[in-house]
Amino acid sequence: MRKLLILVFLVAGLISCSPKSTDKEATLATISDPEIMKYAIAGKTLYENNCANCHQSNGIGLGKLIPPIQDADYFKASVHRTIWIIRNGQQGEITVNGQIYNQAMPPNPQLTPLDIAQITTYLYNIWGNSEGIISSSDVEKYLQKAPDLD
Ligand code: HEC
Repeated sequence: MRKLLILVFLVAGLISCSPKSTDKEATLATISDPEIMKYAIAGKTLYENNCANCHQSNGIGLGKLIPPIQDADYFKASVHRTIWIIRNGQQGEITVNGQIYNQAMPPNPQLTPLDIAQITTYLYNIWGNSEGIISSSDVEKYLQKAPDLD
């Protein structure tokens, strides 16, 4: 009985101490449209597998090496540019939220237009964003022409 009590306290302590990385977790809970939700669920898994290593699950990036996606001015400024970067990678100096980044992001030739549509629909409908569905034909259209990369 005593051991059980100690265990309970230990677990309760662990739960209350677990770090909260950011106020805005990468939550799907704010999405109410079922079509958007379908894309976003698939997009979340693709994001976890292809992007979160660098940009982190919560999109806050990694210090001065990897730029944030959550609350990032550069990200919010252009869906076209984000889609282009996901497929073709990105290198050279860019400024995100006033901070200069200059590391290479590798291209993702393995991601289909539908994959990219799902990832971007996910990212552009969480953390307070509400762009709605970004379809695979939108992605195909954006991939035909390079955006302004500054
Ligand atoms: C190997 C690490 C790595 C992976 C994996 C990666 N990125 Fe990046 N990403 C970077 C780096 C580094 C930059 C900054 C490039 C520069 O300095 O020019 C960047 C830039 C970006 C930008 C533009 C800057 C910003 O923060 O708005 C977006 C958007 C982005 N990545 C999204 C993604 C998405 C979505 C994925 C998954 C499909 C992904 N990245 C996968 C490292 C990565």
